[in-house]
Amino acid sequence: MPQLANKTAIVTGASSGIGLSTAKLFAREGANLILSARRSGILDALVAEIEAVGGRAVAVAGDVREEAHAAALVRAAVENFGGLDIAFNNAGSNGEMGPTPEISLAGWNETLAVNLTGAFLGAKHQIPAMLARGGGSLIFTSSFVGHTAGFPGVAAYAASKAGLIGLTRALAVEFGPQGVRVNALLPGGTDTPLAEAWVATPEALSFVEGLHGLKRRARPEEIARSALYLASDASSFTTGIALLADGGISINRT
Ligand SMILES: NC(=O)c1ccc[n+]([C@@H]2O[C@H](COP(=O)([O-])OP(=O)(O)OC[C@H]3O[C@@H](n4cnc5c(N)ncnc54)[C@H](OP(=O)(O)O)[C@@H]3O)[C@@H](O)[C@H]2O)c1
Repeated sequence: MPQLANKTAIVTGASSGIGLSTAKLFAREGANLILSARRSGILDALVAEIEAVGGRAVAVAGDVREEAHAAALVRAAVENFGGLDIAFNNAGSNGEMGPTPEISLAGWNETLAVNLTGAFLGAKHQIPAMLARGGGSLIFTSSFVGHTAGFPGVAAYAASKAGLIGLTRALAVEFGPQGVRVNALLPGGTDTPLAEAWVATPEALSFVEGLHGLKRRARPEEIARSALYLASDASSFTTGIALLADGGISINRT
């Protein structure tokens, strides 16, 4: 039995990396999908790929910084599939990196707008639809960065990702009584386009791989399986957690 049969899920950041892999996995597990990202061509191709193997998906291109986009995603779920059960609020960007005194206010605001405010806007519109359904699973892609590890030069990114954990905890208790579970997923270093800025040289790649207990980075598919766990009934008594899928980066001292 597919784990997400008869479920409808929003996946943001579905055009690349972790979101793309998760969208494909959720589709294989029987979910109806609403796919979000700015690059509509990639989303359209993904819809075709999912439909070709009997899945159901709708692309809604847009920017997670805009509340109208958050509303459009939920509207698409209700209009196409009758409601919303799962939201993987995963879109994110590195934002402006570098020494903190040199970070512009605009760069700081931009990073928070995509990574944190975008997630808030998503949740704001997703929660009422989940309540109408009698419950649901809300997932935010946070990071070990800003939670179990500090890195120089990524203040805005770290703050935005740590902020998601606070948001997770607040929403988990606010809507737990009505059956909405809310969890954060914290990937370790994962081989995606976003991560290229962190591993720009062979030395940097080797350094980042070595930070992990497993001495390698994750493939996006591996993080997708943790998202599936949080989305599915396999985690039915799990809410308010920060789930590390970090290859041991947080405990490694070798
Ligand atoms: N890779 C890692 O090592 C790592 C580790 C920990 C956490 N994470 C987190 O995992 C999440 C996914 O990242 P990834 O590594 O899979 O990166 P990625 O391959 O670069 O994907 C990022 C996704 O976010 C979307 N996105 C970015 N800005 C957006 C905006 N303003 N509006 C709408 N969509 C936007 C992108 O789509 P468009 O460009 O088409 O809009 C893309 O689909 C992020 O939240 C990231 O912080 C990644």
